Amino acid sequence: MTTVYDEHLDYWLKKTQITKPFFKLLTQNVKSSDVIVDLGCGGGRLGLFLSNKTAYVGIDFSEKLIAAAKASIPEATFITGDLENPTTYAELPDSYVTVSNSVFRKDSCRIEKILPNITPTSNLIFRIQGQDDLPSVLEDRPFYSESELRALLPGAILFHERYTQKFSDYNYFKRAMGRIGLCAKNKPNRKNINIIRHYILVLKNSP
Ligand SMILES: C[S@@+](CC[C@H](N)C(=O)[O-])C[C@H]1O[C@@H](n2cnc3c(N)ncnc32)[C@H](O)[C@@H]1O
Repeated sequence: MTTVYDEHLDYWLKKTQITKPFFKLLTQNVKSSDVIVDLGCGGGRLGLFLSNKTAYVGIDFSEKLIAAAKASIPEATFITGDLENPTTYAELPDSYVTVSNSVFRKDSCRIEKILPNITPTSNLIFRIQGQDDLPSVLEDRPFYSESELRALLPGAILFHERYTQKFSDYNYFKRAMGRIGLCAKNKPNRKNINIIRHYILVLKNSP
């Protein structure tokens, strides 16, 4: 299947870092003996940070990103499939920890369609773009609000991750500023192209 993510393949494959708060959440809640299932794994970015790569299973519907992930982590397992389709989960082991970085959105990857497919004993560690995060506002990408996530994931602990991002694309920044109404207060100039990003980190341990 060719997806919109394939159009920006190089961009996704260049992203090899994960943020400090998410890294901390992962390392504090994943044991080296755990099997990790990464939903929307892309090029396998999270797998590269986990110590036991043989117990890493990445799932994504982009064949090209899965091929790149396989090349980076040959010892891991990868499944090509749509996360909203229950058959994608057929080969998963009985017990695992579910992780995901920046995948759930209300139009193409709905968390409510995904949760019923995950084993109930799985701990969940998700990083989800917030509803007021810049690309959501600028490009009309529908992300979840904190209250929606609380309703969908009762008992989960939510953390807010905000950071300053310096934009390399001045025109994108100018459009963003105009769109979110900050032009008057915060007039963009080529030296001032910082914007606050917003993600929600989710930790839910199985009961
Ligand atoms: C924003 S990228 C993040 C990739 C990866 N998690 C990372 O940290 O680099 C979102 C990924 O989710 C995948 N994806 C989005 N919706 C999906 C769906 N319904 N089924 C399977 N994969 C999906 C895309 O192909 C893409 O690789």
